[in-house]
Amino acid sequence: MAWVNENFTALQDSYLFSQVAHKVAAYSAAHPEQKIIRLGIGDVTLPLAPVVVEAMQKAAAEMGVKETFRGYGPEQGYGFLQEALVKYYAGFGVTLEASEVFISDGAKSDCGNITDIFDDANVILVPDPVYPVYLDTNRMRGRKIRFMEGTPENGFLPMPDPAVKADIIYLCSPNNPTGAAYSKAQLKEWVAYARQNGAVILYDAAYEAFIEDGELPRSIFQIEGAKECAIELCSLSKTAGFTGTRCGYTVVPLALKRKTKSGKELSLNKMWLRRQTTKFNGVPYVVQRAAEAVFTPEGQKQCRANLAYYKENARLIGQALEEKGILYYGGTNSPYIWLQCPRQMKSWEFFDFLLEKLGIVGTPGSGFGSRGEGWFRLTAFASREATEEAVARLRKQL
Ligand code: MLT
Repeated sequence: MAWVNENFTALQDSYLFSQVAHKVAAYSAAHPEQKIIRLGIGDVTLPLAPVVVEAMQKAAAEMGVKETFRGYGPEQGYGFLQEALVKYYAGFGVTLEASEVFISDGAKSDCGNITDIFDDANVILVPDPVYPVYLDTNRMRGRKIRFMEGTPENGFLPMPDPAVKADIIYLCSPNNPTGAAYSKAQLKEWVAYARQNGAVILYDAAYEAFIEDGELPRSIFQIEGAKECAIELCSLSKTAGFTGTRCGYTVVPLALKRKTKSGKELSLNKMWLRRQTTKFNGVPYVVQRAAEAVFTPEGQKQCRANLAYYKENARLIGQALEEKGILYYGGTNSPYIWLQCPRQMKSWEFFDFLLEKLGIVGTPGSGFGSRGEGWFRLTAFASREATEEAVARLRKQL
């Protein structure tokens, strides 16, 4: 008899974005005449930057020639991409060794997989609301989870509570879904808390490229002492439109060490390497060359132009909400607009209203945690035309 994982019974029936997709597909099938504008899942719409495409084409051609063909790549990723990332981090004043950078197929996979290197007895601290992957991946392991509340009062940026003991802390800044971003002073408090408690911070920096306020940290490693208590996960999905191309990276500092329950001290960098070499065979050469191109001066220029386009979409949505007197967060330093549902509607009620009356798809805040109830997320990743049409509908019918 094979027993299946009981912990799956603690999960909701389907993952948030699948649930939204199913509802929209059912609605579309029943109302084929309705032109639906998708501001739900954070999927990009602009094509890859030209330098990225050129790099992919060149790499693809190399794969078709005996002399330049590549089989399995180096386990942590190609040195050229690790070095490009070391340089990128140096741009925010963070010094890394190439061996601290692990190339992956995206932050979502790393977020789930990193749970392998931690004992199941750890207490997990998760913001509420937040990206549902942190919660679900730990629920799958049956771990004890505590929540820290994001509220309008704390600007959706929960801070450490000395009375709450946790071993693994998830922070996402700029935050998905609220768009709120921690300041350096706030991250200093988190680093101090983690060091005091021997905890490890899993810092999701997937939206760092949207930060425009020069005072805000782009990486937790800009905070002194973070290398002894944090792992950073990042992705090119939003930074460079890689949602379908798949490439991300995780930084596991060499200085980060913790003990097993039996008292043996281990390097988390070595553990992650062991885990990845056992369960993962790396990102395609073609994709790593494409990622390398993102970090060239021309790549940065082209990708930044795309980010500016999305930020303008965010500004347009924010402006319409402001005119309607609707409270919202995010939209600057972030591609997400986190708004309070009007007329005290619940999140799913507002989802239905937007879909059925305005033909707009968003994401119900309650899908990001119980504190998200009564809130709603719109993304800035649609085309300008679709965003303008959505804004016109919001202005007219909200
Ligand atoms: C989102 O919409 O929250 C993201 O696109 C999901 C993800 O990055 O996996």
